[in-house]
Amino acid sequence: MARRKKLYEGKAKIIYKGPEPNTVIQYFKDDATAFNAQKKGSIAGKGVLNNRISSHIFQRLNEIGIPTHFLKRINMREQLVRHVEIVPIEVIVRNIAAGSMAKRLGIEEGTPLARSIVEFCYKSDELGDPLINDDHAVTLGWATEDELDQMVVMALRINDFLSGMFAGIGIRLVDFKLEFGRVFEEDQEFLILADEISPDTCRFWDMETGKKLDKDRFRRDLGGVADAYQEVARRLGILNANDSVKQEGSVTQEGGIAQEGGIAQEGGGKKEPRLGAAE
Ligand SMILES: Nc1ncnc2c1ncn2[C@@H]1O[C@H](COP(=O)(O)OP(=O)(O)O)[C@@H](O)[C@H]1O
Ligand SMILES: [Mg+2]
Repeated sequence: MARRKKLYEGKAKIIYKGPEPNTVIQYFKDDATAFNAQKKGSIAGKGVLNNRISSHIFQRLNEIGIPTHFLKRINMREQLVRHVEIVPIEVIVRNIAAGSMAKRLGIEEGTPLARSIVEFCYKSDELGDPLINDDHAVTLGWATEDELDQMVVMALRINDFLSGMFAGIGIRLVDFKLEFGRVFEEDQEFLILADEISPDTCRFWDMETGKKLDKDRFRRDLGGVADAYQEVARRLGILNANDSVKQEGSVTQEGGIAQEGGIAQEGGGKKEPRLGAAE
């Protein structure tokens, strides 16, 4: 295979030039970072699971008319997406107080919120993604008033849809982060959902036990990170219950990940985790 041109390497993904104009390939790594990259690690199989989970969610969102960058999943770790100009704002939706909001405002984690809260953060690793408001975003030129409105409307619709979808599989959608990007068509500019939606970017709590099924397991050294991500995939029906296979030769591996039928393993002789049933 011809070597792809790397456009950007982030903390969890690599962006390569796509095969067609206005497309890029998102490659999902096993790397994990937390607390503004002060904490680093690798979770064997995470990239495969996030690629699968995010593809599934973006496909569902496309189906209900939310415009997204997602075109198709190409293989275990890669998806073809539309190239966008990322709006440098992270849009966070919260249904239950947790994480930075609970800490910042001195609210006990787990407190339900009477209505969903949408927050904006400026996407800057150097500054630690600081919380901003509409005035900062518009005045500093990161987004227009109209773009902020569009992002809030889409974020809340995504929240309604995903909250229901996850409730149906016994998972509480506590909060999540979205990124949007600009696309240009016939002199018209509009926003579509970009990046990923996965246990790296959401808080998922089991509805019965409260068990965390997301990146907080990594942030807080709770262990069983890959198992938790795999549990999310399994409940979404994109993994066979009996498909869990312990991966060999990986010290950092925390759980078996089922193998995807029919899709060739990527080179290097490295054994990829296994994924099961089709969506
Ligand atoms: N469709 C897209 N087109 C261009 N860039 C994208 C697209 N989707 C996501 N991105 C960007 O690619 C990067 C993905 O890699 P990631 O490891 O998440 O980076 P980061 O460390 O910046 O969070 C992010 O910076 C994200 O904003
Ligand atoms: Mg990211």
